[in-house]
Amino acid sequence: MAFKTRITEMFGIETPIIMGGMTGVGYGELVAAVAEAGALGFITAHMFPSGAALKEEIDKVRGLTNKPFGVNLTLLPSINPIPYDEYREAIIESGLKIVETAGRAPTDHLPAFKEAGVRVIHKCTSVRHSESAVRKGVDVISIDGFECAGHPGEDDVGLIVLLPATVDALPDTPIVASGGMADGRSLVAALALGADAVNMGTRFCATQEARIHPNVKQKIVENTELDTVLVGRNLRNTARVARNAVSERVAEIQRDPSTTFDDVRELMSGARARVAVDQQGDVDGGIWSSGQSQALIHDIPTCKELVANIMAQAEAVRSKIDRSAA
Ligand SMILES: Cc1cc2nc3c(=O)[nH]c(=O)nc-3n(C[C@H](O)[C@H](O)[C@H](O)COP(=O)(O)O)c2cc1C
Repeated sequence: MAFKTRITEMFGIETPIIMGGMTGVGYGELVAAVAEAGALGFITAHMFPSGAALKEEIDKVRGLTNKPFGVNLTLLPSINPIPYDEYREAIIESGLKIVETAGRAPTDHLPAFKEAGVRVIHKCTSVRHSESAVRKGVDVISIDGFECAGHPGEDDVGLIVLLPATVDALPDTPIVASGGMADGRSLVAALALGADAVNMGTRFCATQEARIHPNVKQKIVENTELDTVLVGRNLRNTARVARNAVSERVAEIQRDPSTTFDDVRELMSGARARVAVDQQGDVDGGIWSSGQSQALIHDIPTCKELVANIMAQAEAVRSKIDRSAA
């Protein structure tokens, strides 16, 4: 039996499963594999230097699938300017209808997206920011609990409370459950708490089609719920990353509240991680994002197998609940 929700209806997807934008991971091949599996994936725009390069990646996905997919715009301050306006134009010109935004609210991009019929899923980490984003005009909220990989915000509220609190605050807005979601049990639990879909990041990193080093995938499988570290706490720019020699050193330096980003700049460097972790497969060589859902990840399937397994497990869990209620 299919799981039909406001999200599957709105975006024309077969399953209520989303793969959010991911720096270093959200390339076209993976997004196409996710789409072909019946889920909704996002190309991560800021990995591409220009609107034209993003458009090429969109065209590449179009060559691999006829199913819906989208683009993630992560709106964060950056030392090097990011061509957001070019990305927006590339998305609209390509005729894509789904965008995931994260970071600050996409206020300046919304009028153009609305005019072009593009629906915006905005990722938030608090009820108050979700309410504010909906007032500004986003269509869907993806609410990211404290468990998540990447930026969980500064409030430290787990998804089991944050999700229903957001659902209660925004009854007319479709809500995506994000952070800690990894299998069919997560999906049924999220739907029970009022979500219309789940968003998974770490889970999709450990798939065959993810273009990351096999050692990193294996490390995700081996890691438990204890093997993440919060960095950037003292700068109020918290990120949840995999526990390793570098992240533990950064967290140790940042225990002194007077330290600044300059004190950890070299350790946190994206260039360092790209060479050591991504290219050489040294899982202790730099910082890489991973969530507590590592504890629930035990295999490295194809996206098709993964989505099928999640849906089969969700169906089994639903039947079990039905039987116990009879
Ligand atoms: C390797 C990695 C990179 C990520 N990069 C981004 C990013 O650039 N922009 C963004 O909005 N979210 C990013 N995320 C967050 C995911 O989109 C998603 O919200 C998060 O992983 C959900 O939590 P989970 O990992 O527990 O499933 C990243 C996550 C991972 C694992």
